[in-house]
Amino acid sequence: MITVHDKQFKLYMSESEIQKEVNRLASEISRDLRDKNPLFCPVLTGSFMFMADLARALDFDAETFFVKYSSYSGMSSTGEVKTVQSFPEKCRGRHVVIVEDIVDSGLTMKKMLSELSKLEPSGISIASFFFKPAAFKSDFKIDYIGRSIPNDFILGYGLDYDDYGRFYKDIYVAV
Ligand code: IMP
Ligand code: MG
Repeated sequence: MITVHDKQFKLYMSESEIQKEVNRLASEISRDLRDKNPLFCPVLTGSFMFMADLARALDFDAETFFVKYSSYSGMSSTGEVKTVQSFPEKCRGRHVVIVEDIVDSGLTMKKMLSELSKLEPSGISIASFFFKPAAFKSDFKIDYIGRSIPNDFILGYGLDYDDYGRFYKDIYVAV
């Protein structure tokens, strides 16, 4: 058990289970995209750890540009997505891989897809470590999913509860 702010969390997914999924995703992405010179766009802040592990597990070198969007406050989405750093002009004509920690309602991704589409990339792939199908209110396809999970609040491995909890190597769930 760990405590972050006022809440208790218990172990949900271990570091070794996480690495197993990262390696699987990296081989799928390597197989599909290595010849497309893709531009990886991880979403700050949550996906910094996933991107670092993914980068080291891919079997090719690529360019990366971190975008930043925010919508969560505490344990729920505010329903309003703020663009802090959008996609760069160099996405034009490139195959872009959006790298997310988690897709929940899908609102954040929807906003990102609409901004990215305006730059007319040659293709878009979405990689999200976690996906909450029961909370999903959108219709886009996620090409690479680490693990689908129930509608629980989790933290660790980049995911936070009010800005803390991101540095844990394992994933924890609120009890
Ligand atoms: P969405 O816009 O509802 O899909 O939410 C996406 C963002 O909410 C993610 O990028 C996370 O930053 C955050 N988020 C969603 N679920 C969780 C969770 O269980 N723990 C921590 N952050 C979460
Ligand atoms: Mg996020």
